[in-house]
Amino acid sequence: MLNNYRIGETSQAAVRYLACEPCIPAIAPISDEPQKHPPQVLARFGDLYGASRPMRQLFRMIARVAPTQANVLIEGESGTGKELVANTIYLMSGHAGEPLVAVNCGAISPHLMEAELFGHERGSFTGAVRSRKGCFERADGGILFLDEVTEMPMDMQIKLLRILETGRFCRVGADTETEVKVRVIAATNRCPKQAVRDGILRSDLYYRLSVFPLQVPPLRERGEDIQLIANVFLERLNREERSAKVFSQASRQFMQTYQWPGNVRELKNAVHRAFILADRELDLTAAMTAPVPAEPTPPAGEEASGCVTLQVGSTLEEAQRRLICATLGHYRGNKTLAAAVLGVSLKTLYNRLKEYEAKPDGAGPPGTSFSSKVA
Ligand SMILES: Nc1ncnc2c1ncn2[C@@H]1O[C@H](COP(=O)(O)OP(=O)(O)O)[C@@H](O)[C@H]1O
Ligand SMILES: [Mg+2]
Repeated sequence: MLNNYRIGETSQAAVRYLACEPCIPAIAPISDEPQKHPPQVLARFGDLYGASRPMRQLFRMIARVAPTQANVLIEGESGTGKELVANTIYLMSGHAGEPLVAVNCGAISPHLMEAELFGHERGSFTGAVRSRKGCFERADGGILFLDEVTEMPMDMQIKLLRILETGRFCRVGADTETEVKVRVIAATNRCPKQAVRDGILRSDLYYRLSVFPLQVPPLRERGEDIQLIANVFLERLNREERSAKVFSQASRQFMQTYQWPGNVRELKNAVHRAFILADRELDLTAAMTAPVPAEPTPPAGEEASGCVTLQVGSTLEEAQRRLICATLGHYRGNKTLAAAVLGVSLKTLYNRLKEYEAKPDGAGPPGTSFSSKVA
């Protein structure tokens, strides 16, 4: 994945490192100096592309923290590239031969989470026919990436805090403790301080995790990066398909004015969709508003009006269900787009939809198929 940067080099080397894909010209080294001209060419840092000031600032921070043992808390809206940041830290940590284990806390059902993180002994619960290592043991000596950490139940947060402080934990059903050395990189698309105030993130865990907080900026604040990253995605598709498609002028203008609530993920999907629909010129606007042929879900009720009306006295669960269903309907069943707009991961959206399927109450919008394919 890394072209020029050798694993084990110092953070200084990491700062100098700018790997380039063959089709993308190299850029100037990362510097604090204000740019005289807007950046025209794209920097690549580890797995991340970007040349805007906020991204260069992020690259500098990553270069500083990567070679240390510090825990990192990555904050940013859904689709901004938090997982790529975690990968890049790993690649530049000097321990890239060690394990990197990723787990999405929002995608594991709460009653399975303990066994998933800490492992279990044989016979410790029905179905535990053999003992199994958990994420912490598998990440021993390396990095554990805890995505959507604010979705972790409170009782698990206490256990996580203990392991971060002592390095020790018990497998489910075990009498003795296991010791590991794991660096934790956590990520959240919520504001962690607000999550603490809302009582969904323990403050002690927050302080423990956020030794070094990193903020990944939303795409709408990255200026020309939008076009440059879009070019990267288009180049990749052109290479794969041996084509020479280009963006229309209107698409380029649209890119800069649209707010990209789903950030880079939304941009990537939009480019892919426009690419498939285009003979030669990609029309992003049309691609983003055109109905998905495979999933015709005629707008009706709340989804058509673009509003959700709630009776005071509704439960939060009901409100969430209505908003999710209406958003999904509004985007014609496109789960990727709906998840991006709702600010949750695709997995979280799938989990919610599975719950609604299991417990239908008629709140789903007419014509919305929860089991339909990911768009
Ligand atoms: N700076 C970037 N350069 C290139 N691709 C990016 C960048 N940031 C994100 N992506 C791509 O966007 C998608 C979403 O990134 P991801 O790291 O999963 O976001 P998050 O974890 O914040 O939701 C992935 O396909 C990723 O490869
Ligand atoms: Mg993610």
